[in-house]
Amino acid sequence: MSATPQEPLIVAIDGPSGVGKTTASRLVASALHLPHIDTGAMYRAIALAAMRAGVALDDEPKLDALASAATIDFTPGDRPRVLLDGEDVTNFIRTPEMSMAASHVSAVPAVRRVLVRLQQAMGRRKGGVLEGRDIGTKVFPETPHKFFLTARPEVRAQRRYRELLAKGTATDLQQVLAETIQRDTQDSTRADSPLSFDDSYTVIDTSDRSIEEVVDAIAGHVSGRSGSGSAGLP
Ligand code: DC
Repeated sequence: MSATPQEPLIVAIDGPSGVGKTTASRLVASALHLPHIDTGAMYRAIALAAMRAGVALDDEPKLDALASAATIDFTPGDRPRVLLDGEDVTNFIRTPEMSMAASHVSAVPAVRRVLVRLQQAMGRRKGGVLEGRDIGTKVFPETPHKFFLTARPEVRAQRRYRELLAKGTATDLQQVLAETIQRDTQDSTRADSPLSFDDSYTVIDTSDRSIEEVVDAIAGHVSGRSGSGSAGLP
């Protein structure tokens, strides 16, 4: 797993919402001493910028201009923050409304073009654990370290529901499940870079696995040992 400066180590972690990608990616990044790049947060930041500017979520020319002009950064550390033009927008981009808005802007090819370029530049700088929907198919298709996380929809909705409750957001489990399924359908059926994987990926079902098992399996696979927990990969 040694990486030269010319060949930074890239770990791609793709999958639908609620599979535990963000927590797993953060812990894998910390275990491998790599930056964590949450590409979903980047689509969310552009969706927020569009909503604030009153730009329709399917207005491609305006979204292109807005995404091209925006700067998006992540602060390092245990509690990473997302900065949009220098402003900490972490708390604004995690609402159910912003999830749906991000799913809409992520279907716009011009937005994807701008953000994929930015993600590639970030990854090439120091390597990274990148989480998203198209990391192993479009952003870094050449990396040998590709993981696709899955989980049953009910389990994913339950996790999102608990996250929202923990943040004090009033919500309803059936509504979260319906939105989870709607967002999956949108993300998997859009024309540009739909959520998908191929046999270059290692698929991990997280439904009945602890986060530690998932992280151990991924970090172990990347570093050439098999995970020590029951999530040891096939
Ligand atoms: O991972 P997330 O829920 O924060 O992502 C928000 C939306 O962004 C999601 O509905 C799909 C989109 N997305 C994408 O299209 N490509 C990525 N690499 C990451 C996210």
